Amino acid sequence: MKTLIKGGRVVDPANKIDALMDILVEDSKISKVAKNIQGAADKIIDASGKIVLPGLVDMHVHLREPGREDKETICSGSKAALAGGVTSVLAMPNTSPAIDSKENIKIIKTAIQKSAKANCFICAAITKGRLGEELSDFASLKKEGAIALSDDGSSVDKDALMLEAFKQAKKEDILVICHSEDKKLAAGGVVNLGFTSTRLGLRGISTESEYKRVERDIRLAKETGARVHIAHVSCQESLEIIARAKKNKVRVTCESAPHYFTFNEEAVLGYDPNFKMNPPLRSKEDMLAIRKGLADGLIDVIASDHAPHTENEKDIEFERAECGVIGLETELAAAITELIGNNLLDWSKLVLKMSLNPSRILGLNKGTLSVGADADIIVVDPEREWVVKKENFYSKSKNSSFIGRSLKGFVEYTLCQGKVHKWNS
Ligand code: DOR
Ligand code: ZN
Repeated sequence: MKTLIKGGRVVDPANKIDALMDILVEDSKISKVAKNIQGAADKIIDASGKIVLPGLVDMHVHLREPGREDKETICSGSKAALAGGVTSVLAMPNTSPAIDSKENIKIIKTAIQKSAKANCFICAAITKGRLGEELSDFASLKKEGAIALSDDGSSVDKDALMLEAFKQAKKEDILVICHSEDKKLAAGGVVNLGFTSTRLGLRGISTESEYKRVERDIRLAKETGARVHIAHVSCQESLEIIARAKKNKVRVTCESAPHYFTFNEEAVLGYDPNFKMNPPLRSKEDMLAIRKGLADGLIDVIASDHAPHTENEKDIEFERAECGVIGLETELAAAITELIGNNLLDWSKLVLKMSLNPSRILGLNKGTLSVGADADIIVVDPEREWVVKKENFYSKSKNSSFIGRSLKGFVEYTLCQGKVHKWNS
């Protein structure tokens, strides 16, 4: 099967390409990238006026399977991924049971083989049951196919245990992804501490609860020489700590999510739980700091933290609602609208943050349009504006912060391992 993508603007920073080119796909691989490719193809995609990019790699996705298939499944979540231009996801281990043993990895691997539409990679838990008491067996998790470790949703509170985790991770050469949050300092809060918590009379979560834990996690990573990735950075102080660590050659990378560069705590004033997540939306200054960190390269990755929850858990009063929002189907358009639209990123840098950097951090052979690479490719109409509507989500859950917003940039085609998907609405 040959598919020819003709006349698009191909942006592939790994190969320093930003030019009008054709791409020929043969079966599951890219076989040629050149101007005016001639010859027969089974399918021709006219990409004139469109941008052609490596498929996105989202390293922070909650697929909820096994255990909470009412929120999302590997099938529905990976379909949502493809619709959003995401061809590879890293599935977080806060499932039920948690992915903390080789047996549980086998369960999720079987489910992925059976029903995944996109490439799904596995992040396993740092501690058994994600309870922060006892380390899981990193060697066997890695052997069974885990490519990173995280207790995402919680942080490992005990310093000595986390130090041991980093030692083991260094030994096994596996990435640790930190959900950096000191629960004691977060003090049961539900919104950012400050303007909104005072205005709404809700308990606040300080930035200190985040950055103090970022500081600890980086210190322990430095001590052990392990690789650490800080998930969902939301505030300026965390960025300052990460900047200092990078200067001091600590092996640290970090991510933020579209909600942190699009919204700030003022969005919460209407008590809409679709703006409730952990960490919470912070001040306007923090939002601007996240934008700056993305523009100047300090933030390596944009990941969605796709966190599906049912209406029963979300469409209730703010204090009781679950934390988290879906993001797979809006992250690219949000980045195009807010970051490219405001000249904070160009297309090459967008590919770095959303495809090449996460691939490199996870050690995946993705994020490029090199000849011989897997044909994970997206064709994007950069000008098409669309309104985010609940009824159009492929995700089983509809808890998006972007509902009702107009976004620019529409994924027209997603090729995943050469298989072509066309999107209309
Ligand atoms: O808002 C969040 N939701 N933050 C997390 O860390 C976990 C996630 C979830 O799993 O729902
Ligand atoms: Zn998290």
